[in-house]
Amino acid sequence: MISRWTVVVDRDDLTRTEVLHDELPVLSDCELLLRVDLTGLTANNVTYAVVGDRIGYWQFFPTDAKNRGIVPLWGFADVVASTVDAIPEGTRVYGYLPMASHLVVRARLTHGGFADASDHRAELPAVYNSYLVTTRDPAYEAEREDLQVLYRPLFLTSYLLADKLAEDDFHGARTVVVSSASSKTAFGTAHCLRGKGVRLVGLTSPRNVEFTKSLGLYDTVLTYDDAVDLEPSVYLDFSGSAAVRETLHARLGEQLVKDVSIGLTHQTSSPDPRSEFFFAPEQLRKRVADWGADGFAHRTGDALKAFTTEAAGWVAVTRHSGPDGLTDVWQSVLTGKTDPAHADVITF
Ligand SMILES: NC(=O)c1ccc[n+]([C@@H]2O[C@H](COP(=O)([O-])OP(=O)(O)OC[C@H]3O[C@@H](n4cnc5c(N)ncnc54)[C@H](OP(=O)(O)O)[C@@H]3O)[C@@H](O)[C@H]2O)c1
Repeated sequence: MISRWTVVVDRDDLTRTEVLHDELPVLSDCELLLRVDLTGLTANNVTYAVVGDRIGYWQFFPTDAKNRGIVPLWGFADVVASTVDAIPEGTRVYGYLPMASHLVVRARLTHGGFADASDHRAELPAVYNSYLVTTRDPAYEAEREDLQVLYRPLFLTSYLLADKLAEDDFHGARTVVVSSASSKTAFGTAHCLRGKGVRLVGLTSPRNVEFTKSLGLYDTVLTYDDAVDLEPSVYLDFSGSAAVRETLHARLGEQLVKDVSIGLTHQTSSPDPRSEFFFAPEQLRKRVADWGADGFAHRTGDALKAFTTEAAGWVAVTRHSGPDGLTDVWQSVLTGKTDPAHADVITF
């Protein structure tokens, strides 16, 4: 029997965590046992928990513990037991992983590796169910796994969001206003929009102005209390703050040609009919259809490598380990205590 540890959070009070232990059952046919090895943890994972009930993020890794949830993370895992010849023990994969030492998946083979075909994941977006074997993955860089677990899931959204905006010719605007400009997904988007003929205005908290300016990605960096210029603008909302949205709508009026909601770093979920939600898997499906699965993997892989080369100089990475290290990082990211110039990865 293999023992597993799992960190669960209280769905009604995300600050309350607990470490549970259980024994893993023997594998059935088509099943693989993954040993989680390395993950990132950023505001994005907190958002999964904030909208866990509404969007279904608790369903990926269900738990019997009453009113508890397992927060999904992105990272690397190793196959430590297998009933599938094509995916032997020792295979390393990148994908969506629980806050737990182990994960059992029911493997359905795919071009890049396998998907988890478990019943409880059947209705969830395919991109979250896919596990990529590192040796077949054009975006994989063995010597940069730390940066990959941090940036890869976020940068894909940045890339697809920038791609969609350019495809829509920025809805006629030439200024893009970005909230939570110091967040990795926001500055990844700014990186992708550089040189596309738009002025990039980053909005951030006073304490993060210096860091956001130091990135050199935004043409202008303002605090949330500063007034933006009156000109046709698209708003990319990574903060989810109703107050910031209200201020922008009041200031820009008709000049605000599009209000796109991407994130909730401020952890309040208040959908607004004036705002259109950007869901990356939709644009991903479109581009896979346009470019083919290989074409998509190579284009986004090349873009990610170029981005992480630059981002390595912007954010220093600290490693933590085990359930206690994971819990500490969760508390610090949840309470917004992290400095954007530092990021945390966890070895399990
Ligand atoms: N729709 C999608 O497909 C998709 C995909 C990826 C990410 N996202 C979303 O994008 C957002 C950014 O994610 P990330 O992982 O890139 O973030 P991150 O790098 O961890 O962002 C950190 C920044 O978020 C703000 N922040 C964090 N915690 C806060 C708190 N408790 N209170 C107030 N502000 C806080 C601060 O920025 P400021 O001071 O600059 O506000 C902070 O510097 C998340 O909400 C995430 O879910 C959406």
